[in-house]
Amino acid sequence: MADAFRLDGKTVVLTGAAGVIGTQVVLAFVEAGARVCAIDRNPALLKQKLGPEHGSLMHCAADVSSKEALLRARKKLESKWGTADALVNNAAARSLNYFEPFETLDVAEWNEVMAVNLTGAMLACQVFGSAMADRGRGSIVNTLSVYGIVGPDQRIYEGSLHLGKPVNSPAVYGASKAGLWGLTRYLATYWGKRGVRVNAVSTGAVSNGQSEEFVRNYSSQVPLGRMAEADDVAAAMRYLASDASKHVTGHNLVVDGGRTAW
Ligand SMILES: NC(=O)c1ccc[n+]([C@@H]2O[C@H](COP(=O)([O-])OP(=O)(O)OC[C@H]3O[C@@H](n4cnc5c(N)ncnc54)[C@H](O)[C@@H]3O)[C@@H](O)[C@H]2O)c1
Repeated sequence: MADAFRLDGKTVVLTGAAGVIGTQVVLAFVEAGARVCAIDRNPALLKQKLGPEHGSLMHCAADVSSKEALLRARKKLESKWGTADALVNNAAARSLNYFEPFETLDVAEWNEVMAVNLTGAMLACQVFGSAMADRGRGSIVNTLSVYGIVGPDQRIYEGSLHLGKPVNSPAVYGASKAGLWGLTRYLATYWGKRGVRVNAVSTGAVSNGQSEEFVRNYSSQVPLGRMAEADDVAAAMRYLASDASKHVTGHNLVVDGGRTAW
């Protein structure tokens, strides 16, 4: 049974691979035996965060909001390692005025975030998931957030600043994640008969140098008393990508220390 949690011989495509969570997922998946095709829009960042390519790591510079770029990434992947066994949609974007209040956020910025968080994940499912469905097996994991499930408690952001502006969790973020949960359930039923499982991981805030005040405010709302670490999220993704979850589809695995359980 323990072996079912390993990823030996599996090829995994991961988007947003150079980010806080993505870098940890690459490490965890390679350690579990997978070959990882790491997609991020910034090739320099991929090299800086993940080091050079090696036998279990391929870099693919691609913007997930471009189907053509994803098709080029698939071509590179398939020429070296064949069809992906798993896809983890993890990329997320912030627009220039991401923390603008809801009332004044420009629609172009709303669309820019949606194009990555929701449409980008849909395109990656089209490009990599279709190949899995054609072959008759695969696993897709979509990275959501607790803000796709509940609204933010605005009080925990009081006193937190980013580049001198008050920080909040914008409406476009929660809306993109709730939309991705809808896509997750749709594809779970759509591709079930073709052997492709589609699940989600909803994570609470991940520790990444936030202000002491934010950490204190946030942690006080978490039954387990702390923020998430990136490896907490990677472990959940590993389970859903592995054969240990072979009868699990259409599920949202919440990794938030119990914050949404009150
Ligand atoms: N960090 C958290 O507290 C937290 C909490 C809940 C959910 N999440 C979710 O987890 C995922 C990863 O978050 P993170 O904290 O590692 O974010 P991050 O900003 O550190 O990483 C996101 C990565 O996505 C890449 N990216 C952005 N736009 C892209 C595009 N168009 N094409 C390809 N790559 C693109 C960025 O370059 C970056 O490397 C996101 O989906 C995020 O919404 C994070």
